[in-house]
Amino acid sequence: MKVTIIGAGNVGASCADIISYREIASEVVLLDRKPGLAEGKAMDIMQCAATTGFSTRVIGVTDDYTQTANSDVVVITSGVPRKPGMTREELIGINADIVKSVAENLLKHSPKAVLVVVSNPMDTMTYLALKATKMPKNRVIGMGGALDSSRFKYFLSKALDKPIGDVQGMVIGGHGDTTMIPLTRLASYVGNPVADFLSEESLQAVAADTMVGGATLTGLLGTSAWYAPGASVAFLVDSILHDRRRMIPCSVMLDGQYGQSDICLGVPCIIGKNGIEEIVKLDLNKSEQDKFDKSAEAIRTMNLDLRNILE
Ligand code: 2OP
Repeated sequence: MKVTIIGAGNVGASCADIISYREIASEVVLLDRKPGLAEGKAMDIMQCAATTGFSTRVIGVTDDYTQTANSDVVVITSGVPRKPGMTREELIGINADIVKSVAENLLKHSPKAVLVVVSNPMDTMTYLALKATKMPKNRVIGMGGALDSSRFKYFLSKALDKPIGDVQGMVIGGHGDTTMIPLTRLASYVGNPVADFLSEESLQAVAADTMVGGATLTGLLGTSAWYAPGASVAFLVDSILHDRRRMIPCSVMLDGQYGQSDICLGVPCIIGKNGIEEIVKLDLNKSEQDKFDKSAEAIRTMNLDLRNILE
């Protein structure tokens, strides 16, 4: 099975690395517009095969979309990452044109592929990719919730002082510092509500740390994170390629679910070979639904910036 990753920056290359090591796909094409970057990173990854024993074939190309033909999954990571102090939303003007042209180019060569959007602001870029390509909505998936939920579980495990593998938790809503919703009420430790083990104050601190998890790392690193984003994309790609049908929060086009329509926003989905197999309805309480509606309002406002591009 073949995966194309557009953008050989930190996130794209990290994703290619993990997909190779775990042999999630048999072939990975890494494409970038900067001459030599994708070729170099692909070669560097391939030179790990002898010591790590993977059989995945990774190639790098410069802007040659013909090499991406007949991909099963295509991942868009291209665009400018944020700098310390920037919000993801501030990237919209720079990244929108890049994402639109990349999505259109990909579709020409892989008309049956599932498209995974990572570029920020991710919810708006996912909406743009879907509208620009007119692909069926089950085959356009925004990756944000998988990453935010991974950070949520990390902070919960730290607060509980227990292994991350024993913790469950989900983040829905927008992939933004103020728009994401860590569902603390539904989080669990070995099947028990985490509220049985943590005070309300520490739960709120976990939620707050999760919401700025990306910004915290950007402040430390001077650029956006890449290991966890790369791993989260690989997790999603694995569920698609191997029809795992995992429940993963993803940014998807809503048609009335959770009271919202004509917007891409993070909700729990069953992810399999057809991309979005099902959107799962959670019974949100009033506070959670209010937060979801506020998140939708913020993303809808951002989507207005796409008007001149989508006309
Ligand atoms: C993050 O949250 C890059 O948006 C990504 O780290």
